[in-house]
Amino acid sequence: MRGAGVVRQRRAQRPLRIGILCASTVLAALASAPADAADAPEVVQTVCAACHGPDGNSVAPTFPKLAGLQVEYLEKQMREFLSGKRKNEIMDASLPALKSADLTAVAAYYAGQTPAAGTVSDEKLAAAGKALFDDGNTASGVPSCSGCHLPTGAGNERYPRLAGQHATYTAAQVQAFKTGARSNDKARVMRAVAARMTDEEIAAVAEYIAGL
Ligand code: HEC
Ligand code: HEC
Repeated sequence: MRGAGVVRQRRAQRPLRIGILCASTVLAALASAPADAADAPEVVQTVCAACHGPDGNSVAPTFPKLAGLQVEYLEKQMREFLSGKRKNEIMDASLPALKSADLTAVAAYYAGQTPAAGTVSDEKLAAAGKALFDDGNTASGVPSCSGCHLPTGAGNERYPRLAGQHATYTAAQVQAFKTGARSNDKARVMRAVAARMTDEEIAAVAEYIAGL
């Protein structure tokens, strides 16, 4: 009788132990941020890696780095490419692959990758960009970028990470918000910010962000 009781008790405990094991495995995997492309969802390896790199650290400055961007942001963007709310000719060719992919898994994979540091090629331009990023431009009403994207540019679940992104890509996105070519920002937040920026300010802040 006593033996059976122990067995029952062990059985009852098992699911909990497995739960703890799974959680710690996931945490360990996130902490070590595997750069191993073999861990990526298949679509990442077979389609997306060509432009975004196997670990989301793209090399070409017109292809955004996806490594370390927030899950929420990545998933939102993929859904909006699919719905046509965000449009881009180069991403168009990947839409069929995106349509059949597990978007949550793809977003989680890229979010868990370690972002490679970006490079600044013009220190003077970056210094001008830092002033705008941290303090905005009170005369023209440009708010500080740090107010939403955080002083480190790391972002959070509401505002995407910008730090280390290719300057060419960042500048192109701000320009697209400015002209309205990109209009998938909720409540027009980024369009309102970009509309007040000069081309010089856009180039400078993009250069600074690349080095964050
Ligand atoms: C031929 C190159 C190419 C391929 C292949 C490609 N992308 Fe992209 N991707 C781009 C470009 C270029 C952009 C920037 C689009 C823009 O300017 O709006 C982009 C943007 C994105 C963004 C938005 C990033 C941001 O910071 O807002 C996500 C997310 C994304 N791609 C995911 C994917 C996924 C997932 C796949 C595979 C199914 C994929 N891409 C395949 C070129 C590519
Ligand atoms: C009031 C909050 C707010 C402020 C201030 C703000 N942003 Fe944003 N930004 C956002 C949000 C929200 C998004 C995501 C839009 C979306 O969902 O597509 C975003 C997106 C972006 C993107 C697109 C990122 C990508 O990977 O494609 C860039 C680039 C950007 N912001 C640059 C800036 C710069 C530069 C400044 C300062 C001049 C700034 N932002 C100020 C809220 C803000």
